[in-house]
Amino acid sequence: MPRAPFAARLPVALVLALAATATAACGTDATAPTDPPTQAAPYLDPTLPVDERVEDLLARMDLADKIGQMTQAERGSITTETVTALRLGSVLSGGGSAPDPNTPQAWADMYDDFQAAAAQTPLGIPILYGIDAVHGNNTLTGATVFPHNIGLGATRDPALVEKIGQATAEEVAATGADWTFSPCLCVARDDRWGRTYESFGEDPALVTSMTPIITGYQGATLGGSPSSILATAKHFVADGGTSGGVDQGDAVLTDAELRAIHLPPYLAAIEADVASIMVTFSSVNGEKAHGSTALLTDLLKDELGFDGFVVSDWNGIDQIDAYAGFTHQEVVQAINAGIDMVMVPTEYDAFITHLTTAVEDGEVEMSRIDDANRRILTKKFELGLFEAPLADRTLAETVGSDEHRALAREAVAKSQVVLTNDGVLPISTASRVLVTGSGADDLGNQAGGWTITWQGASGDTIEGTTVLEAAEAAFAAADAGGTVVSERRLSDETLAEVAGQVDVAIAVVGETPYAEFEGDRPDGVRLTGFDVVTLQALRDAGIPTVVVVYSGRPIDLGGAEQWANALVAGWLPGSEGAGVTDVLLGAVDPTGTLPMSWPASAEQQPINVGDGQVPLFDLGAGLVGPLG
Ligand code: GLC
Repeated sequence: MPRAPFAARLPVALVLALAATATAACGTDATAPTDPPTQAAPYLDPTLPVDERVEDLLARMDLADKIGQMTQAERGSITTETVTALRLGSVLSGGGSAPDPNTPQAWADMYDDFQAAAAQTPLGIPILYGIDAVHGNNTLTGATVFPHNIGLGATRDPALVEKIGQATAEEVAATGADWTFSPCLCVARDDRWGRTYESFGEDPALVTSMTPIITGYQGATLGGSPSSILATAKHFVADGGTSGGVDQGDAVLTDAELRAIHLPPYLAAIEADVASIMVTFSSVNGEKAHGSTALLTDLLKDELGFDGFVVSDWNGIDQIDAYAGFTHQEVVQAINAGIDMVMVPTEYDAFITHLTTAVEDGEVEMSRIDDANRRILTKKFELGLFEAPLADRTLAETVGSDEHRALAREAVAKSQVVLTNDGVLPISTASRVLVTGSGADDLGNQAGGWTITWQGASGDTIEGTTVLEAAEAAFAAADAGGTVVSERRLSDETLAEVAGQVDVAIAVVGETPYAEFEGDRPDGVRLTGFDVVTLQALRDAGIPTVVVVYSGRPIDLGGAEQWANALVAGWLPGSEGAGVTDVLLGAVDPTGTLPMSWPASAEQQPINVGDGQVPLFDLGAGLVGPLG
């Protein structure tokens, strides 16, 4: 369904102001509004081909317009006046950056205010609003929080992942935002990397198979529906291949390795018409990607034919040299390398000044500036942003909807990987069950990083269902005489009380939330003391135990895999924990298989299929089909 015409969706004053500015742009002075034009300038005519609209608009733009379009600032460091004065092309929410109250209404009001400010610029070019909706619209309170990519990789279900993209797009567009910095198409090759959970897995073919999420976000045609949003393939390139799994480190690769392991997902993303590609902070063979003409222009744009726009990462141009604070030379190098939109959350004035000087002094050709603008404006026209720049508030009802939560629950169930089972699964609802462990009743741990805040946090951070709550509900609904008791942290005393009263324990153990470099574990990934004590107590008490691991990656279980009666990789399921109990109680047969090789110990890193090592569980391992 096409979006309502631009004029029909804006207050008359805004339309007149826009018309006036369009007239002014046709005249000699692009700053002094004059009487509204008798007809819209070609770039405002949606019946014209996009490339004609782009060329008409570009011809009307002065250098300030063009450099403004290439500038992206963070919402918390600007006002609406900044958008107008600097003619910004984009605004973003950094991790956890939300209006207060954090409601769809408040987001849409904020977004519309920024668009109204953009309409006051000489040519009235709407902004793009970008956000990290990486597992649902995870910054928005009440949104459906889907499994992180590592769990989606375990589903090996591209059609499901495309539906998740579409559902996420609806909950993003409901706030007005029209661009998600997702999917991460990193191929995670070392589990010590803090962003492993943002990867669909270690296998390039598996990661490539998940790229239909791009069509989920964008739709079959960008702008083809009110919920269509720009997708971003990130982080180009080889962010998951750094030595030691160091986030923002250096990937030492032959050209053949780069092309065989890290490039395939981008070929598929370009084939899917991904609108933008974000540059990795990391380096390839010692060269920072943000400054690499070889990677961003020669390879990505020229050889692979990427025709969307390249966006930098957060102050990424600042990392080109080894010193804090970006310099004139870094700006020149980044733009000449092929970056089109620059994420300068707070330093946008400096960026604009440096780039303006660089163009005036001939260090950056106007042809490069025009290329960047053509790429950005093409996506804005394709998205339909000029015709309908304001939030579509009818989508607010999709936020956290029963339909979306059911989809998330299905994805959670399909992401569960049952690695071992001695027959303890499926658990009968006639039995007496103890639910314990750090993740048993903690939505924050269940969701992981990039949830409400950048790093995420343990605790009751989102609306959803924990494993404990889901088990209690399932037992109550079954009314089969079974019971559920819980003890988050087991002690010898508490265990003594319950030992004779339970038939089986579900121990949900694993990681607490983190994001990016905060999740790097250079010494290997292990369970924390909290969970180790719980598992030891269960083992010593001889209680039949199902261990469910909430983690962003395979982790060293301290030998639990040797004695546990069943072992399930649960990953980071998000809001719908009932998808886990659906498998544990036999309501859904497991189908998930490992997206990563599971190491025999924390020291066995990196380990990947085909490298000659023997993992604890192979890539692709998992019991599939009925458990009983
Ligand atoms: C972060 C991440 C990137 C994210 C961006 C905006 O540093 O590297 O994945 O999209 O900044 O939040």
